[in-house]
Amino acid sequence: MTAVVLACCAVGAVTIGATLTLGPRRFTLSRANVPAIATEEYGKRLLAETTELLGPHNPDPKMHYSGSGLTCGSCHLGTGMEPGTLGLLQASERYPRFSPRTAGMTDIEDRVNECLQRSMNGRALPVDSPEMAAMASYIRSLGDRNAAMGASLRKAKEPPAFKTPDRAADLKAGKQVFSDQCAKCHGADGAGLLATANPIHGYVFPPVWGPESFNDGAGMHRVLTAARFIKARMPLGKADLTNDEAFDVAAFINSQPRPHMANLDRDFPDRTAKPIDTGYGPYADSFPIEQHQFGPFAPIEAYYKKLKKSKSPGKKG
Ligand code: HEC
Ligand code: HEC
Repeated sequence: MTAVVLACCAVGAVTIGATLTLGPRRFTLSRANVPAIATEEYGKRLLAETTELLGPHNPDPKMHYSGSGLTCGSCHLGTGMEPGTLGLLQASERYPRFSPRTAGMTDIEDRVNECLQRSMNGRALPVDSPEMAAMASYIRSLGDRNAAMGASLRKAKEPPAFKTPDRAADLKAGKQVFSDQCAKCHGADGAGLLATANPIHGYVFPPVWGPESFNDGAGMHRVLTAARFIKARMPLGKADLTNDEAFDVAAFINSQPRPHMANLDRDFPDRTAKPIDTGYGPYADSFPIEQHQFGPFAPIEAYYKKLKKSKSPGKKG
């Protein structure tokens, strides 16, 4: 009995009341059906061992939610506990919120599902599954950790920001950066290094392109998002690239083959809200697709700044 009670109260750390509110669909789990395994601890394991638990090589096909060899922690370093780029310490403060990509309200659960479908090239978990409840509960618990750390300590630990060079990315230079600084871990073919001969154990160094990497609808497939991450985090343990190197190598990685996501043209129903480095159309401007993929971005930025100004009432003239 004690084990059940403990499991219940680990979830209950979010709300120990009779109900637990999850997601924008606001359904309630009564104490009786809070999944006993949906603990923060299980949530953390799901972020760290995503390949084993939810990956394409899990012996139970029903558990194939990720279609890649990545873990959540491959991008959200330290299972989201590292301050700064792609850290999840502040995620719980940011939801629920409006998502221009889906033109609807999103909560943590929806955002996790977007990463599952895009960053992990998989499919959405049911919002009321123990796995989703556990991950959401873990991510919400990071908010308490963040509060305990305090904003100034978190800021002090954040890596330096990326500044976009005012030019198009140079794929040839990016290829050189990759072979000099990245290939020793991620492999010359970008396919990463498996932990053991059995792919269920996942990767020691995750694939940065190819069939087991993120798909072309992922945030990491946007060159500025990738450059920000790479500048802040890579090469792992060093993170000493210049803005130019991070920009070029991000473009090189994202020019390589990877899984394709269907129906990307339906993203961002309001096209003026589409991030300027989204690598697929349609767009609300007439810049060529290559410019959205690789820059230069300053002219696109200037175009949307002007458009916004002309649209916002009271700022005319
Ligand atoms: C290939 C890299 C990658 C992988 C793998 C990945 N994510 Fe993400 N994730 C991102 C990017 C990029 C964003 C967008 C960050 C932004 O908007 O600034 C994001 C955003 C999020 C957010 C919202 C953060 C915020 O503060 O708004 C959550 C929560 C999240 N991811 C959870 C997960 C979980 C859970 C998994 C595993 C099931 C996962 N992610 C796998 C790249 C990844
Ligand atoms: C010392 C080994 C090492 C080096 C060198 C290295 N990485 Fe990584 N990289 C990793 C590991 C390990 C992860 C996953 C993070 C984790 O598990 O903590 C990762 C994650 C990534 C990811 C996100 C996950 C994915 O697979 O898409 C990208 C993108 C990435 N690295 C790009 C680069 C680039 C670009 C360079 C060269 C500038 C580089 N890395 C150099 C070890 C390395």
